[in-house]
Amino acid sequence: MKEHLESALGKALKNARRSPAPPKLAAAMDYAIFPGGARVRPQLALAVANACGLDSPELAMASAVSVEFMHCASLVHDDLPAFDNADTRRGKPSVHKAFDEPLAVLCGDALIVLAFESLATASINSAERLGPMIGVLARSSGMPTGICSGQGWESEKTIDLRAYHKLKTASLFVAATQMGAISAGEDPEPWTELGTRIGEAFQVADDLKDFAETKASGKSNNRDAENDRPNAVLKLGEKGAINRLQDILSGAIASIPSCPGEVDLIKIVRKQAERLTPVQPLQKTL
Ligand code: IPE
Ligand code: IPE
Ligand code: MG
Ligand code: MG
Repeated sequence: MKEHLESALGKALKNARRSPAPPKLAAAMDYAIFPGGARVRPQLALAVANACGLDSPELAMASAVSVEFMHCASLVHDDLPAFDNADTRRGKPSVHKAFDEPLAVLCGDALIVLAFESLATASINSAERLGPMIGVLARSSGMPTGICSGQGWESEKTIDLRAYHKLKTASLFVAATQMGAISAGEDPEPWTELGTRIGEAFQVADDLKDFAETKASGKSNNRDAENDRPNAVLKLGEKGAINRLQDILSGAIASIPSCPGEVDLIKIVRKQAERLTPVQPLQKTL
């Protein structure tokens, strides 16, 4: 599954990089996608499409590819000095450091557009699914319910942590589950809760990971604290964040709608949940 995903991402990107593409921007796009991270969202989209019966493999793969392009675009923009001012991403210089700021802005923009184009290209034989898929991806990335909204809250004086996590991170997991379902001709609504729960848990786990890394390195490299961002560990303490994580995940399996591939999907979600849950708190309280 992973090799197919990598080759589908590469194919879509190759098309975007052909003449008359400017070489540096084309290289920046490739740099933002390869080598990838964990590819969690596209794998979730494919898992849901499979669970729903996978009646259009091409569209299922397009939903996976589009959600990953959107995710990578959000990371390129998120690392810019105007946002988190992060010098590294995935163990290498962030896009604006490796290239420059104008190219990083354009790279994110072009990947967002490529996400939608990937859906359009794959839905030639199933045009009735294109509108709903575009709607889901747009709502999960724009205003008022998507990533833009979540990132926008960082410019406000007070933020509700849970709402913020839902908008900036869980929204794209909802896009993954819903687009996976639509690609197989199913109603996306029953898949909302699973995406929300995995996404919220993912962000709480990420906050816990940042905290653990900061502690292990012994120096303050916590960008959330530095940038005055709301963070589950900063707000709830380590133990509180772990409790929140377990609380969210405990309902994830139960939220899976009945579908032909239910049993396999339960196994995948259980594995994800185990991966996200820290074995034990690093310290009792923050
Ligand atoms: C990082 O997401 C951003 C968050 C929402 C926490 P991932 O941890 O999925 O990033 P990659 O794609 O694996 O690098
Ligand atoms: C990134 O959120 C998620 C986006 C919506 C772009 P964070 O800023 O919390 O994630 P990292 O720590 O940079 O990966
Ligand atoms: Mg950020
Ligand atoms: Mg960041």
